[in-house]
Amino acid sequence: MTQYPSIDSKKCLTVIDLSTMKLKGEKISCLTAYDASFSAILDNAGIDVILVGDSLGMVIQGHDSTLSVSMLDMVYHTRCVTRTRQRALIIADFPFMAYTTSNAAAKNAARLIQEGGAQMVKLEGAKIAIIKFLVEQGVPVCGHLGLLPQSINILGSYKLQGKEDADAARIIADAKQIEQAGASMLILECIPAQLAREVTGQLSIPVIGIGAGVDCDGQVLVLYDMLDIGTGRYPRFSKNYLQHAENIHEAVKAYISDVKNGVFPAQEHSY
Ligand code: KIV
Repeated sequence: MTQYPSIDSKKCLTVIDLSTMKLKGEKISCLTAYDASFSAILDNAGIDVILVGDSLGMVIQGHDSTLSVSMLDMVYHTRCVTRTRQRALIIADFPFMAYTTSNAAAKNAARLIQEGGAQMVKLEGAKIAIIKFLVEQGVPVCGHLGLLPQSINILGSYKLQGKEDADAARIIADAKQIEQAGASMLILECIPAQLAREVTGQLSIPVIGIGAGVDCDGQVLVLYDMLDIGTGRYPRFSKNYLQHAENIHEAVKAYISDVKNGVFPAQEHSY
C-alpha cells in the first residue's frame, strides 16, 4: 500500500516557493480538490497548489451556492485532501460567516491548520483587520477579490465584477491593502483581464486568476468544471480538459502545462 508522508512533511511547497515563482516569472498552477483520491491525482500530476474551496457546497453537496458549507465540512474535506498530497501547498477556504471577528477567524484558522493540515487559509473580501490579525498569529492568508460567491445574496447573480471604473479602482485599492495587511497570495475571480493585469503588476505577492485573464501569476479552476463533471452551469472561463485526454491524470497534466506556458486561459475564456 502506498505510504504518504504526514502533514508535517518538509517536502511540500511553501509560501516562499510561491513568491520565488512569481519573482522568476514561473506561472503557478492551482486546482480545487475535496477528497483524497483527486488530491493524489493532482499532486502526482505536479500541481503547485490545491485549494479546498467552499465550492464543495455546490459540486459535492449539490447546493446552488456556497453558503451552507460549515466549518465541520471544511475541516473534514481539508483533512481528506492533505492526507494524500506530497508536494502541493494546501489552501483551505473559510466558509461563510467563519471570520466575522478576529477571534472567530483565529479559532477557525486553527482548526483548518491543526485538524485539517492546511498551510494557508482563504477569505473573501477586503477584511483588512482580520487578515492583519491572522498574519500576526503566524497564519498565511490568501485574499479573494472580484466575484465573491459568499456575497451572492447581495450580488444577485454570479457575474463579471470590476467593469465600471469606480469598481475597478476599488478592487485595485483593496488588493494593495490586502498585500499591506500581510497576505501571502490573492485570488481574483471573474474580472476583466486588463484589470487583473494591472493588479498583478502592482502587487509583489502572487496573484492567481479564475476568469481573470492570462496575465495573472497563476491560474485556478474548480476541478469539476475543468473535467466537465459538474451538475451546475458551466462557466465560460473554464475549459474541458478531459475532452481530449485519456484519463484524469493526463487532463490535469495538460492543464498544468497550459498554465505554465501561458496558453490557458485563451481569449475565449477571458473578459
Ligand atoms: O471555492 C472555490 O473553489 C474558490 C475558487 C472559485 C477560487 O474560491
